[in-house]
Amino acid sequence: MRSFEQELAQLERAQLRRRRLTVEAFTAPAQRVGLRIEGRELTDFSSNDYLGLAREPALARAMAECAARAGAGSAASHLVSGHGREHAQLEEALAEFTGRERALLFGSGYAANLAVMSSLAGRGERALLDKLSHASLIDGARLSGAQLQRYRHADAAAARQVLGAAGAPVAVLATDGVFSMDGDLAPLPALAQAAAARGARLIVDDAHGLGVIGPTGRGSLEHFGLDAHAVPVLVGTLGKAFGSYGAFVAGEAALVEFLLQKARSYIYTTALPQPVAAASRVALELVRREGWRRERVRALTARFRARALAAGVPLMDSATPIQPVVLGSAAAVLAVQARLQAAGYLVVAIRPPTVPQGRARLRIALSAAHEEAQVDALVDALAAALAATAAHPQVLA
Ligand SMILES: Cc1ncc(COP(=O)(O)O)c(C=O)c1O
Repeated sequence: MRSFEQELAQLERAQLRRRRLTVEAFTAPAQRVGLRIEGRELTDFSSNDYLGLAREPALARAMAECAARAGAGSAASHLVSGHGREHAQLEEALAEFTGRERALLFGSGYAANLAVMSSLAGRGERALLDKLSHASLIDGARLSGAQLQRYRHADAAAARQVLGAAGAPVAVLATDGVFSMDGDLAPLPALAQAAAARGARLIVDDAHGLGVIGPTGRGSLEHFGLDAHAVPVLVGTLGKAFGSYGAFVAGEAALVEFLLQKARSYIYTTALPQPVAAASRVALELVRREGWRRERVRALTARFRARALAAGVPLMDSATPIQPVVLGSAAAVLAVQARLQAAGYLVVAIRPPTVPQGRARLRIALSAAHEEAQVDALVDALAAALAATAAHPQVLA
């Protein structure tokens, strides 16, 4: 048996050992993207706070008011005595927002994806996933006992081919709406057609789409004009564009009731604290009312792309606030991260196994809370860091 020390040393040698950064304080509160880490003030370009809601005072106020009434913790699971009014009201608001009969709250997107995958597929069936699907969808598929098959990334023809191949029936086809590390969109209309033709349920995890994509922020489905019939199972998270925490599954009433009865990651866990649900409800209201946040993050994304491309930064084909710069090797991304950090920017290097081998990258994420000048300065710093790193080819892949 290998020791922990040996395992850790191997990660270290491959430059794959991860280190947490402790945020010591939030600085420049008016901008909401300032952090202090190890005594240094940095502008954060790594969060999923696309609409700048995580430090919105209205969310914190809702949390504090609810905590004064309901306490900090739910003290039990939803099916025992932990389900409260704030949960119920948030579920109703989420169902209404997504245009579905019901929504079911979960403690996290990870738990929601475990629930849908493990409850909607089982032994003797197949579960089909995009090659770059989020880890929680993959883990849920493994837990289901179904045979897991993956198709080439964002390739509906490849999905159709696997669906039509001989074998057990395909119970579910699951995909991210917006891919978390690439920022591109799944070809949802073609996937919906392919799934429907073979009687497979389509599950879309729109963790990075809801709130941001589509004219009114209703996500990838709104972008493509797809209804609940085309995508019967929708997963959303509340810890990204909504600036809060938790997640939900939205769909027809019978689906939600089935998950409530069967999904182990719903049943056997303490209910999300009500103050968190209260903050999410305020966030949902702001997502609805303050379309300027979406417009702003889109404009900043366009500005970043135009300037970065002009500066020769190798971007991927992403129209969302997720803008990866793929450099290949772990050494290269770590070197550029360090240079950016020294220049005052937090852009965390994303390495395997989060992304495939040889596809290590900087994942730059724009937020409505950024200033134009910060975006411009990041591009300058990035171009300089890439040029300086390229001068040391031993770190490039
Ligand atoms: C596509 C996707 N799905 C699900 C999750 C998990 O959501 P949560 O952070 O709420 O557990 C994430 C990221 O964390 C994600 O990127």
